[in-house]
Amino acid sequence: MLTLGIESSCDETAAAVVEDGRKILSNVIASQIQTHAPFGGVVPELASREHLKRIAPVVSQALADANVTLKEIDGIAVTQGPGLIGSLLVGISYAKSLAFVARQPIVGVNHIEGHIYSVVFENPPVNYPALALVVSGGHTTLFLIPAEGQYAAIGRTRDDAAGEAYDKVAKLLGLGYPGGPVIDRLAKQGDARAAELVFTIPRMDSMRLDFSFSGLKTAVLRYVREQQIEPLPEGEAPGEVIINLVTSFQDKVIRSLLARVREAVRRHQPQTIILAGGVACNSALRQSLKAAGFDAPVYYPSPILTTDNAAMIAAAGYPKLRRGEDHGLAFTASTSIKLENLQLAGYDVPVNARYRI
Ligand code: KG4
Ligand code: ZN
Repeated sequence: MLTLGIESSCDETAAAVVEDGRKILSNVIASQIQTHAPFGGVVPELASREHLKRIAPVVSQALADANVTLKEIDGIAVTQGPGLIGSLLVGISYAKSLAFVARQPIVGVNHIEGHIYSVVFENPPVNYPALALVVSGGHTTLFLIPAEGQYAAIGRTRDDAAGEAYDKVAKLLGLGYPGGPVIDRLAKQGDARAAELVFTIPRMDSMRLDFSFSGLKTAVLRYVREQQIEPLPEGEAPGEVIINLVTSFQDKVIRSLLARVREAVRRHQPQTIILAGGVACNSALRQSLKAAGFDAPVYYPSPILTTDNAAMIAAAGYPKLRRGEDHGLAFTASTSIKLENLQLAGYDVPVNARYRI
């Protein structure tokens, strides 16, 4: 069964052809990083405009690379949300027109579920219950997955996403956008003792395994002001102070993520641990999870499948299409669609808690 996946939720226009939900025949990604870099973040209007320009050639390229025609596709999977409304609508409208022309079923896929499925290509099958840490520019959520398709959010960020914290700290220091890869690279040169510097990790204070990164971001800001650190002029190499600062920042992010995963593993004894989302590219995070000595194996995708792509969307859509689902032409984008479809006792969201979507 051939699935055509389409992803356009943020700043990547992507299309992929996947066979039987596990074998990638093509995976085309047109990144808009160059467009948004001068602004230090994604500009929604520019993103929609770029998607409009790229969607048709990207899909054609994905079909050509896979050596198939639209007629040979058995179903289409497209990101329904969460994401930027204008960006999502480009992918969905285009996917619907293809489904109409090809007379094939179409399913809307939750982008976060897509990230979780990004591990299916390069690892043995996922065993359940599984635990998934999804860390990206927009999300930091810990899911318990008792069985395929069942998701209980047992922890999530109360403020910034981990990737957002990376991007904001990098912007503050003049390190460029996106911040994650730059900080990842610089932290390799950092003094190990720098990790002990400056910042503390927020404590866990509830049954929920929630995260918080805004305090850390503020601590970085305060340190930058106190030490009178100036943003780096473009093209200049960072000195020791900045390198040690980002090393310490990264160390705290990773320790905070690892502490929650460790506690979730202790409570729920998953059979597979999944690390997914853009921040899962981070080499130190990957190493720490691997080295944590869990009984269950840790699966993460190779970098090209870690950041936004359409192969993961096709993989997540495949079980739905196989079950005969067809969302037809009436469904539309949902910027705040939730993946959680299961509530575990003890993990209720406190009444006065304010979580971002
Ligand atoms: O999943 P993704 O491509 O887009 C969203 O759905 O958000 O994730 C992008 C995020 C950005 O915040 C970027 O800085 C971060 O992933 N990222 C990294 C690394 N590579 C990308 N963060 C830390 N270390 C990396 N190596
Ligand atoms: Zn993503």
